[in-house]
Parts: sequence; C-alpha cells; structure tokens
Amino acid sequence: LENGLARTPPMGWMSWGYYMCGVKCEDAEDKCLNEQLILSVADSFYKDGYQEAGFEYIIIDDCWSEKQRDKNGRLVADRKRFPRGMKYIADYIHARGLKFGMYTNVANITCMRYPGSLSHMELDAKTFAEWGVDYLKVDGCFVSEAILNGAYIELGKYLKQTGRPMVYSCSWPYYIEFIHQKNPDYEEVARYCNMWRNYHDVQTSWDAIANIVRHYRNHYHELAPFHGPGHWNDPDMLIFGTGVLTHSQSRVQLAVFVMMSAPLLLSCDMNKITPYEKSLLQNLDLMAIAQDPLGIMAQPYHVTDCTLWIKPHLPRKGDQFPSYSLALMNLDSDASYVSFRLSTYNLNATDGYTILDVFSGKYTRNVTYDDKIEVTVPGFDVILYTLYPL
Ligand code: DGJ
Repeated sequence: LENGLARTPPMGWMSWGYYMCGVKCEDAEDKCLNEQLILSVADSFYKDGYQEAGFEYIIIDDCWSEKQRDKNGRLVADRKRFPRGMKYIADYIHARGLKFGMYTNVANITCMRYPGSLSHMELDAKTFAEWGVDYLKVDGCFVSEAILNGAYIELGKYLKQTGRPMVYSCSWPYYIEFIHQKNPDYEEVARYCNMWRNYHDVQTSWDAIANIVRHYRNHYHELAPFHGPGHWNDPDMLIFGTGVLTHSQSRVQLAVFVMMSAPLLLSCDMNKITPYEKSLLQNLDLMAIAQDPLGIMAQPYHVTDCTLWIKPHLPRKGDQFPSYSLALMNLDSDASYVSFRLSTYNLNATDGYTILDVFSGKYTRNVTYDDKIEVTVPGFDVILYTLYPL
C-alpha cells in the first residue's frame, strides 16, 4: 500500500503470540493482557536499548475490548484491564517516541468473539484514529470469501479517510488460502495493505519456526515479487523471551526473518528476554540487514543439506557493486559441510569482497568471486555473513 508507511519492515511487539486472549488476570497473572503489560513494553523499548535498535510499534491484539459497544455504537476498551482507555496508552507510548497498534476483525465479531468491525467500519476507523492508533492489524475470521475481499478494501478506504497515517496489516491472504482454499491475488493485497499474514499462527516451539521457515523458502517465487517497501509478507511473530529456543535456534529464526525483510514483532514479557537474545535483537549489523532500504526478500538456494539465502543490499556510497548478505541455514540436527563459489550466484565484484561474520561481529577474510568458500554449519544453526565489495 502506497501510503508512505512501512517503507522498511515494521519492528515492534504484539500481544498475541505469548499472551493470547489473556483475560483471566486473577488466575494467570503472568499471562494477563492489560494496561500494565503494554506500558511495561513501552518502558522496556525506551530504557533497555530496543528503540535504538529499531523496535517501534507496540500492538494490542484480540481481546482488548468490552463485549458490548457503547450506546453510540463505539468500541470500548475493557474497563478492568484498560481502566484509563486506549488514548491514555497511546499518549504514553507516543511520549516515548514509539508507535501504537491495535486489532480488529472484518466480521461482526473477532476471532475470540469480541466486537468486530463489519457493520461499523467507518466509526471504528474514526475511533482508532481518535485514540492515536498508528498501526491496525485486521483479522479475517468468520466471513465468506466474497465479504473478505470487499471488507479489506472498504476498511482500508475508511482508514485513509481519517487522515491519520496507520500501517494496515491484513490477514486477508491467509484466510483466502487456508480457509477458502483459493490462491490469493497478491497484486491486489499489496495494493491495499502494508503487510499481510499468509501462513499459520506461530506457536511457541522450534517445530513451528522450522515450518514457517520451510513455507517461505518453498514459496519464495510466488511471494517475493510482491514484497518490498510499503508491502510486506508477514511470517508472524518472533518467539524470543519464551524460553523454548536454544541459542542456535534463536539465531535461525532471527536470521531468516532478517534475510526475508520480514516484520520483526516480539511477543513476550520483555523481562524474560535472555541476555543472549537481547544481544541478537540489538546487533546493529543484523538489524541493518533487516532494515535495508531495498527491502528485498532473500532468495533461497539448495546447497548440500543447507539453504543458502542471498540478499542484495543497497550499494554503500561510492561502491560500484552492491553488498550482499548470505545465510547458510541448517534445519536438521546433523552438521552439514557446504562449499560454494560466489560467482555461481552472480556475486561478481571485480576485486572480490570482505566478509563480516554478523554474529561474531568480526571481519573474517577477503574472498574473490572465484574462491571456494567452505564452511560446516552445525545442526539447527545458521552462519550469516555480510559481504562488502573491495
Ligand atoms: C488469528 C490471528 O492469526 C492471530 O495472530 C491472532 O490475531 C488471533 N487470530 C486473535 O484472535
């Protein structure tokens, strides 16, 4: 969607992955979706270095509202869990230079059966704008294919009419493909939405991550043409801070998302992010790959038992050749020996390249396009290089 927003993939935090429909606050305090949680994420972004690394949007997903609209038909935030309302939260977030996101669905109810926007699109768009929303996630449960297509377009029109810039995140193609069993029209989706979900919800497990990674690898040719500044495929949230990933598995999830130019949305108690995970999220060489202005989705190639993802970058000032990032990813448990030459993939800078190992932060060596590069990738791990032309 050409609305001037999401020129690089959005980065931030969203409630669903870990907190889900966290309404039972008395029984499960650590899974409670309430004001305190959202403000604590804003504090952490502001104080713990995440904002400097690029993390910006804080998004409340499903289960934030009262079950009934008010007498004027307006959505109302849950009075117990969000006692000061959403405008208060938006102001708190904005005061820290961060951005605020919310959620609705294109049916009359949300996926968790809270009020949805189908018969109230204009009013809801206005309400979100008045509250100071900067990003709207719009789900697609419980409607027919015909309604789905029209509703995303219509809601987008009302969002635009408010005059408030809001990133428009759609789940449209997911429902077209996995619920209605049709092929999404990505040209249309990219015209109306800034980003879109097109695969199943992430779960907090390594298997879920491996499936997501395989899905986007296998559908690269279908999806990459529609991916770029203002319009992104969204493979769903990172599962950092949930305790389920080993160090190397966390490298794999982050490296692949970064290489894909995917949105990077955390979902966890920010205090549970381990020092190692934090060092990855705040590795600025890594985030520079993620936020490269060209926003190209890395192309996957099969090399021995690994996938080699290659992503071209905007050339540095004065460089004649582009820089590239290369990720060698091993989704199996056994280590894999890999050997390749850059020229095979048309990395042909005349004087060769210098290699930055992104996870260690070290420049390891210089190579020509014809040198054999040999590496062993441990099981469930990834090696990530950025190559700068010499
Ligand atoms: C389905 C979406 O895919 C999830 O990300 C989340 O928004 C839930 N619905 C909320 O009900």
